[in-house]
Amino acid sequence: MTSKSSTEIVPEVSSVPRHIAIIMDGNGRWATKRFMPRVAGHVKGVEAVRGVVEACARQGVEYVTFFAFSSENWRRPADEVSTLMRLFVTALEREVSKMHANGIRLKIVGDLGRFDEKLQKLIQNAERKTADNTGLTVTVCANYGGRWDIMQAVNRMVAENPGASDFSEAQLSPYLALAYAPEPDLFIRTGGEERISNFLLWQLAYSELYFTDTYWPDFDAEALELAIDSYRQRERRFGRTSQQVVEQREAVAKC
Ligand code: IPE
Ligand code: IPE
Ligand code: MG
Repeated sequence: MTSKSSTEIVPEVSSVPRHIAIIMDGNGRWATKRFMPRVAGHVKGVEAVRGVVEACARQGVEYVTFFAFSSENWRRPADEVSTLMRLFVTALEREVSKMHANGIRLKIVGDLGRFDEKLQKLIQNAERKTADNTGLTVTVCANYGGRWDIMQAVNRMVAENPGASDFSEAQLSPYLALAYAPEPDLFIRTGGEERISNFLLWQLAYSELYFTDTYWPDFDAEALELAIDSYRQRERRFGRTSQQVVEQREAVAKC
């Protein structure tokens, strides 16, 4: 099982994060700084996704998850929202075949019912086409919110277990949108803000957090390497003492 909970077992830690989750922020400011419309930043942002996906595959990362559109982003001006939707459609039309050829499994998670039919069809086809691929799993969170995720999981769990109560974490986990992935080892937010913005609230319980001022369109393979370097410096204790972590490392090294 990949989705074991960090609050119930101590996960194995390796020098390359198995799962990286990213809030791609700063597209608008990247463009504004260049006297360009915000949409130009979003276009550039799609290119940055491509670069980071390739870099993750090269590094041996198993899962990379991108926050593309939050449940709160509908509050943006209508023309920015429709541009983002259009970009999403174009990206799917252009990129899915290439991803498939590279063995990438693509997942799109969130409250997808709010998207128009064309986009929903593209999403279904992309997931179906790449479902059996065994390379990097790329997840795009679209109309996603961490609270939405927890609530949809609770509601489905309760509906499927009528009359039951006193549920455990382990019973809830399979209903979460990213149940197929281990919890993120590394969380990255670009663009200088240091907040979670309703991203993976449940799954980030023990993730290492990395914030950078770099705007998302400028975030490249080198920037990713810096984030992974920072991750390697961390001592992941999962509630234990530093001494226990060192002793465990020594015991593993002896075998
Ligand atoms: C992130 O960049 C992209 C989305 C939220 C879709 P922003 O559009 O939030 O860029 P800033 O934060 O305004 O610079
Ligand atoms: C978070 O960025 C959402 C995505 C990157 C999709 P925002 O730019 O929307 O976050 P806030 O509103 O500044 O917290
Ligand atoms: Mg922003």
